[in-house]
Amino acid sequence: MSDQTITSVSREHRVFRPSAEFQRQANLGSYSAYKKLYAESVNAPEKFWTRQGKELLSWRKPFKQALRWKLPHAKWFVGGQLNVAENCLDRHLGTARENKAAIIFEGEPGDIRTLTYKQLHREVCRFANVLAKLEVSKGDRVAIYMPMVPEAAIAMLACARLGAIHTVIFGGFSSEAIKDRVNDCQAKVVITADGGWRRGKVVELKSNVDRAVAATPSVKSVVVLKRTGNPVTMTEGRDLWWHDLVAQVPAEHKARGFDSENPLFILYTSGSTGKPKGVLHTSAGYLLGTTITSKYVFDLKDTDVYFCTADIGWITGHSYVVYGPLANGATVLMYEGAPNQPGPDRFWEMIDRHGVTIFYTAPTAIRAFMRWGDDHVKKHSLRSLRLLGSVGEPINPEAWMWYHTLIGKKRCPIVDTWWQTETGAIMVSPLPGVTPTKPGSCTLPFFGVIPKVLDEAGKEVPRGSGGKLFLKSPWPSMLRTLWGDDERFKRQYWSELPGYYFAGDGARIDEDGYLWVVGRIDDVLNVSGHRIGTAEVESALVSHPSVAEAAVVGRPDELKGQALVVFVIVKTGIEATKELREELRSHVAKEIGSLARPDDVRFAAGLPKTRSGKIMRRILKEIAAGGEVKGDTTTLEDFSVVAALQAQEE
Ligand code: WTA
Repeated sequence: MSDQTITSVSREHRVFRPSAEFQRQANLGSYSAYKKLYAESVNAPEKFWTRQGKELLSWRKPFKQALRWKLPHAKWFVGGQLNVAENCLDRHLGTARENKAAIIFEGEPGDIRTLTYKQLHREVCRFANVLAKLEVSKGDRVAIYMPMVPEAAIAMLACARLGAIHTVIFGGFSSEAIKDRVNDCQAKVVITADGGWRRGKVVELKSNVDRAVAATPSVKSVVVLKRTGNPVTMTEGRDLWWHDLVAQVPAEHKARGFDSENPLFILYTSGSTGKPKGVLHTSAGYLLGTTITSKYVFDLKDTDVYFCTADIGWITGHSYVVYGPLANGATVLMYEGAPNQPGPDRFWEMIDRHGVTIFYTAPTAIRAFMRWGDDHVKKHSLRSLRLLGSVGEPINPEAWMWYHTLIGKKRCPIVDTWWQTETGAIMVSPLPGVTPTKPGSCTLPFFGVIPKVLDEAGKEVPRGSGGKLFLKSPWPSMLRTLWGDDERFKRQYWSELPGYYFAGDGARIDEDGYLWVVGRIDDVLNVSGHRIGTAEVESALVSHPSVAEAAVVGRPDELKGQALVVFVIVKTGIEATKELREELRSHVAKEIGSLARPDDVRFAAGLPKTRSGKIMRRILKEIAAGGEVKGDTTTLEDFSVVAALQAQEE
């Protein structure tokens, strides 16, 4: 076995086909239709995207050319002008959608507010007028640090309406993170709230902003939404109440068109290593990418109630809570709080009560639901659901099967969507009425996407073995650069192999051409010359009935190169014994071969995760090697987890 490829150890053979019933009603319902469109999208991309651009978006001024590509810089829909907010709102007015719910909001305490397209349009217009009064115009940066409330989406859309650039900072980040991001992009205005509800408590957003803006000279105004009513300090001349401002302006706003390539937003990635990167997305291409994927991957219909659990602070919240669904005229359910408040069945209870039809969440959440126990799910019918989605990490087959059986009642297709902050929209995913699914595989590329799994020499690996995941050829919703650092953009994404976008993930393509992402390439394990992705070993562990969650890392080992250290969280009610430790070592050896038998099994109460739920294996590596935890930990959700793991060491 060469050192160049990743050894694949997964043995998943189950296949699930879409039902005839789902196929009949799907926006795309046959494999031959997919193949035909896909072939056109990669063989004649200009023609394909010209047609989609005209059909799916409303233009102020038509574009002349679909793509101008000067590697690695792309311009999409050259010469065109549009307004992104108009595409999400105005164009539904005067149609049957005008008075349909755009956003159904539910706060954690249980307060519910519904905004129809017409109402949302008026709120966005009002807030655009507010921002204009604060002297925000085209190209200015506006930071948004808010709870998951409709005003977060309203603020984003108001920026888009003015051609200004929003940067949403996740509400769980610290004042330090706000300061760094605001300074990096020189935001003029910060929009925040007195607080938001999380697990029955108020998250004090405003005081974090106060600490941050003490060191951000670019900020001229801070707009504060009253959400929780807890006391906040308002600084005269800088801080303004949202409700006071909107009361002074009309609910009409005449929008203008902006160039296709006008920047829409910067989103700082909470990468598990290094300084955050300001990923820049622009207008028309991003909007088209999110619109077309929402239409085909989520099979959106006017009758759907669509619930994506991602926070607006992540790319998933941008693309699949706000832009994609609204451009399709969908009804979006937006929830403010924690999934286990007041009880572990909050989501299931909400799904029944609101009649949710499409549910999109992350594997980390699915594993938490599994750990909390099936009874919480079984109390609810979940009859309204018709489609499920997953994003953020490889989904282990065990979690996939649980999702399929307990939540989807074996009736709902699952779309396992692979994409990134940088790709803007879903790149590889099943289409629910088309693609037979295999648990753990994100299956086949979306239109226009050419994934390649290549070895160190840039050669395609044989089917069944693994390598690095690249994308060939540009796509409309691709990042355009890193804010203020084009060199880093080139180095990070376009220099691994000339002419290809490097995703940073390890993957393999199986005998049917299906893609399996096996984890970040930096995390790949190297055992006796075999390179193994983390996802496969972790999946084997989670397939043991006692295990709720697992993470694997390598520890330097003279003999083997790396010894495998696994961190295991057991299910509620299971005892972490020596016998179980041995059993788990044998279990992995049995599931995937003795090559992957863990050298060290450690029980843990929690794993270090980023705030978007990704395991920070870098930290576990340091703990496994017995060293101290160095490097950036500002994206870590809960430092006490690390302290507990270290204490165990001693
Ligand atoms: C991982 C989230 C496997 C992957 C939209 C990627 C996935 C990174 C999947 C991007 C999936 C996301 N299967 N891995 N379906 N979806 N990933 O920027 O490692 O927060 O590179 O974007 O998450 O994370 P980001």
